[in-house]
Amino acid sequence: MKYDNVHDRKTKSMLLLANYEGRSGTELSAQLLAKKENGLRSIIEGIKIVEANPDIHTVGMSSWPNILGELQLDASVMDGNTRRTGSVGALRGYLHPVEVAYRIMTDINHEMLVGVGAERFAHEIGAITNKNETEISINAWHKHLDNALTSKQKEDFPNVRLLDIKSEAIDPEKMFDTTIYMSIDHEKRISSATSTSGWGWKYPGRLGDSPIIGAGSYADSRYGACACTHTGEMSIRAGTARSVVLYLKMGLSVVDAVYEAAQDLADLKTGYLDEVTIHAIDKDGNYKVVGLNSSEEIRYVIWHPELDKPIIESAEILRL
Ligand code: GLY
Repeated sequence: MKYDNVHDRKTKSMLLLANYEGRSGTELSAQLLAKKENGLRSIIEGIKIVEANPDIHTVGMSSWPNILGELQLDASVMDGNTRRTGSVGALRGYLHPVEVAYRIMTDINHEMLVGVGAERFAHEIGAITNKNETEISINAWHKHLDNALTSKQKEDFPNVRLLDIKSEAIDPEKMFDTTIYMSIDHEKRISSATSTSGWGWKYPGRLGDSPIIGAGSYADSRYGACACTHTGEMSIRAGTARSVVLYLKMGLSVVDAVYEAAQDLADLKTGYLDEVTIHAIDKDGNYKVVGLNSSEEIRYVIWHPELDKPIIESAEILRL
């Protein structure tokens, strides 16, 4: 095991860790944490900035749509004190899926709602509606269809067998996807939250790891938290986020816990492992971010009270 790039902090207090795609909301989250706001609410407010940012195409409005040109959004939250969660999948027409996920945690005795049921719930709680598909996302989808479909499929679309074009589902911004945030607040509450549009051109109804608690995120104030980005199919299969927290419970350092989970992913042998990134924090404020087999630099955002504002750091790249 290599121990370079270990972030072993001397001052063990509040912490914010977000992926690079989420950077636009981190300043607000850090300010809220510094003001001793609840950690989960602090990261939700940061994610809401990312969801409403039309220049980010993998989270919230103006993201790459599914193969039918519809934006189906996923999000989740977890309070590590109570281990209550809220998760929403394939949500259409609402600006802040992460807020809907939070309200599932607080307003109903379920942990996850998807599709039309989730939309009904969002309506009933008065969530902000939005036309999330924009000219940019629809133009990108048209361009994709133009390349991906045969002339016959173009003539018949959308009455075509989507299975025949599903292998075209790729994220046009290969190094970007999803936002994940984790925090430790002034009361030592550990929280996690995610939001994503999932893969560009995905099969309708596809859920990745972001709304699957235990795969794309998990938080337990007794031990730590973990959240993953990139190909959610892999972290679903390995149960990555829950595994990392369980490895912490078993006494592994945050570095070894992440390495162990990375090995679990590599042992899957099949699937698209490259670029999967594991972000983890422990209850003492130590953290580790590892990207798998990435050809490019993977960055993330960190803030703690010794810093005036959030800073960008680079993840360790593991070749497995
Ligand atoms: N990691 C996000 C997704 O696979 O949808």
